[in-house]
Amino acid sequence: MRTVIFLKKLLMAICLFTSATGFSQKQKVIKPGEVWPDNDGNHIQAHGGGIIKLDRTYYWYGEERKQGLDTAYRYVSCYSSTDLTNWAFKGDVVKMKDPEKLGKGWILERPKVYYNEKTKKFVMYFHLDDKSYKLARVGIAVSDKPDGEFKFVKSFRPLGHESRDIGQFIDDDGTAYLVFEDRPNGFRIALLSSDYMNVEKEMCLIPNHMEGGAIVHFNGLYYAIGSALTGWNANPNKYATARYLEGPWSEFHDIAPPATKTYGAQSTMLIKVVGKKSTTVLFMGDIWKPKTQWD
Ligand code: DGJ
Repeated sequence: MRTVIFLKKLLMAICLFTSATGFSQKQKVIKPGEVWPDNDGNHIQAHGGGIIKLDRTYYWYGEERKQGLDTAYRYVSCYSSTDLTNWAFKGDVVKMKDPEKLGKGWILERPKVYYNEKTKKFVMYFHLDDKSYKLARVGIAVSDKPDGEFKFVKSFRPLGHESRDIGQFIDDDGTAYLVFEDRPNGFRIALLSSDYMNVEKEMCLIPNHMEGGAIVHFNGLYYAIGSALTGWNANPNKYATARYLEGPWSEFHDIAPPATKTYGAQSTMLIKVVGKKSTTVLFMGDIWKPKTQWD
């Protein structure tokens, strides 16, 4: 009996030691709804994020909201992985000070990074706003490397429209689009310019008032997913389909039993993983806790 207790204690001590020293076990599966540790055992901080794949490596960018950050800055973190499950922290690739003099409480949310083959630049789009969400612009920051540092270039309203939540969509042929929420009208899907430094052409306006917009192209259909406008509170997210990005788009339907409010999450991205045997789409969402945002 004593030996069993001793062995249990030893095992616990080893577990604590390995997580404290960063030698944490490889994770075999993603556990939705649980705290997700990175390879050093730290809670992943990449909220409202976006994931891209370059060769065999995935890069995950998101809002860095860990405790103790300097509140004068906004931060974007970067993680890398080859299996979408085990993630190495690559550092904060953005540490930005109020680029448009918006004042205390200014907002940088939902960063998305595109790699431009032609210019060899990594181009980050993000939602830039003042504390009352009235500015409604996208910001652009650029880097030569996936792990930064990204430097602020400019901010603007895409095609002259209000833009709050943004989403990223890269089609199977590599064409890059921005999804953005235009509060008075609905949500828009727009083509980026060839250097990705501008939003060039509107593909469509989906006249539904939704945020957290995400698109995936799967088995000949485009799927658009979004959430209702309930701030940080979860709601039943919905999807519509279309054969062409330009539409026509179907009616919206629930993606999960509505009573679960999307299991407490809000849409952020749809990731298509093309495997040898099958193709899988992952729904990536945030379970927000506005009073403890690092959580
Ligand atoms: C919902 C958005 O999706 C989030 O990114 C954030 O902007 C909150 N609203 C703020 O209330």
